[in-house]
Amino acid sequence: MLPIVDKPIIQYGVEEALHSGIQNIIIVTGRGKSAIEDHFDVSFELEYLLESRNKKELLAIVRNISDMIDVSYVRQKEALGLGHAVLRAMELVGHEPFAVVLADDVIEAETPALRQLLDIHSFFGAPVLAVMEVPAENISSYGAIDAEPVSHNGCHDRLFRIRNLVEKPKQSEAPSNLAIIGRYVLTPEIFDSLQAIDPGSGGEIQLTDALKHLLRSRPIYAYRFEGTRYDAGDKLGFLKATVEFALRRRDLGGPFLEYLKGLKL
Ligand code: G1P
Repeated sequence: MLPIVDKPIIQYGVEEALHSGIQNIIIVTGRGKSAIEDHFDVSFELEYLLESRNKKELLAIVRNISDMIDVSYVRQKEALGLGHAVLRAMELVGHEPFAVVLADDVIEAETPALRQLLDIHSFFGAPVLAVMEVPAENISSYGAIDAEPVSHNGCHDRLFRIRNLVEKPKQSEAPSNLAIIGRYVLTPEIFDSLQAIDPGSGGEIQLTDALKHLLRSRPIYAYRFEGTRYDAGDKLGFLKATVEFALRRRDLGGPFLEYLKGLKL
């Protein structure tokens, strides 16, 4: 719920899903559930207040968000890993392809990153994950892939067919510096893999390990998406996102830039 400028981080992820054509959202929560639920709820009191005070623009924004989405919540009682969190949504997802968005990864892109992955998924009918190149010394913070490039739409360096995946490898053992970023389009077979695997890195059920398990029976693709990713789960990444998003705002950008220029750096 921590805001970047004036919007909670989680809302950037939800809006990216909406702008990618996804309307049914399942939020897997731990603690802080009620604050998140309240945020996405249609609030009768808030709408009434805005209406009575004639705040038409604000009212339109509130209505717009609550009209567009259908949000359900699932509780992950213990933090047993990303794979475990995804497994908690199994019943609600059912037998359809679905997307996973890790809201800490905020991505600015002309075409939403998730939409880019969905387009690849529509073409190949296979699971697709987002990847980006990271400096070699940082790869141990991510899932890393070993993959061969696949030509697609006249482009030879964006799409990859995955050969192997490793969660949080040591720098010396990483198969590449292509890191998994928190966007996935998955097919329901992943749930069988999540149930079949043992805990991995950090003693947690890892989505990366389930994907490696699934790779034995299915092709899986990785897409080096177009856009800028901010790691809002990291203090420096959060600050960078805050400064850059504020500078881009029509109402704040000018005065904020003036302020920054006035700092004795
Ligand atoms: C998770 C995934 C990891 C991925 C990362 C992207 O790790 O397990 O494979 O690279 O998200 O942000 P976490 O950051 O939750 O430790």
